[in-house]
Amino acid sequence: MSTTTSKTVKKTKTKKEKTRESPWTEQFRPRTTKQIVGNQDVVRDIDEQTSQLSVPNICISGIQGVGKTTISNIIAWRLAEGQVENILIINGSEQGTMDYLRKKIIPFCDKTSLDSGRKVVVIEEADNMSTKVQPALRKVMEKYTVNGNVVFVLNCNYLNKIIPPLLSRCAKFKFGRVADKDMIKLLKRVQKVKKLTIEEGAIEKILKEAKGIPRDLITLLQMVSLSGKRPITTDLVQKHSLDVIVEEIMKEILKKKNLKAALDLTIKNMNEGRIIDERSMIEEIFNRYSSNGIKNELFRGFIIKYCAEADANISGGSIPLIQLGGLYSNILILKIQSESGK
Ligand SMILES: Nc1ncnc2c1ncn2[C@@H]1O[C@H](COP(=O)(O)OP(=O)(O)OP(=O)(O)O)[C@@H](O)[C@H]1O
Ligand SMILES: [Mg+2]
Repeated sequence: MSTTTSKTVKKTKTKKEKTRESPWTEQFRPRTTKQIVGNQDVVRDIDEQTSQLSVPNICISGIQGVGKTTISNIIAWRLAEGQVENILIINGSEQGTMDYLRKKIIPFCDKTSLDSGRKVVVIEEADNMSTKVQPALRKVMEKYTVNGNVVFVLNCNYLNKIIPPLLSRCAKFKFGRVADKDMIKLLKRVQKVKKLTIEEGAIEKILKEAKGIPRDLITLLQMVSLSGKRPITTDLVQKHSLDVIVEEIMKEILKKKNLKAALDLTIKNMNEGRIIDERSMIEEIFNRYSSNGIKNELFRGFIIKYCAEADANISGGSIPLIQLGGLYSNILILKIQSESGK
């Protein structure tokens, strides 16, 4: 090896290079079910069901960032015995169309695999497939799973958005928030690999912030560590707190009356992974106004109503960012009206 090369290898990463690093959530994505923290009873049941000769179709539901995609990938890999060509992963939001069903899913199921091994179709965000496509998928499922050659693995946030005839053909598993005693294990894992120094109080604050969602915990750790300050203190975590970010966005709307700044700040935080998506931002606003001590019940009532409408519209296929922008402007209009006494 030349000197230049060895120098390159030894060189410590600059801040810019650190920022280019792949997301920690990917670096720490579990490769085996043993690495998954929390929901242990469910994980055990899935392990059992997918270790038998005859494997049912599977549907995994639950909130965002708790490991549904992760375990679906692990199952797919296991069932297809590592034969990537026998795995088809599709996203129900983008590819859950009749066209995709006809041109991709059916031919995939039809094609005899070279090693005559089992094939797996993973459908991410299956709850976002239209109610027109779902009955057609049910028929495909019925046809191809009869001799156990194809297994469907669906995952979704909302079980009630999947039609019962499709659900009744799956073994169902639900992932919930992860208890702090398990979140700590994940935190320690990341801390060890990334050699982080975290103050005792900050650990508590991180767990409180992550609210039982492993993805949020890892994203928060990456963000605070990228700020370059060491050790990680409670104040530093507070600065990256989602509550603080939501507070700043609401301030732009309610105090500065600046919708553009509110949207820019939202997009920036979505790009950085702190806000998962538009829908989770709507949920944050809902949680904030449904639970805390706002004196004006009418104000609270309207905000909850607007959140519900925006969420339903996204479910119905509207563009999420436009719906979130609509919610922000409704809140601003409400504020202006209440100030002018209307
Ligand atoms: N239970 C878990 N144990 C360990 N890490 C986890 C767990 N759940 C999530 N993670 C971390 O969060 C990342 C994202 O998880 P994943 O994509 O499986 O979430 P999800 O439940 O599918 O979310 P969504 O509903 O948004 O699709 C993983 O790559 C991993 O780093
Ligand atoms: Mg997922």
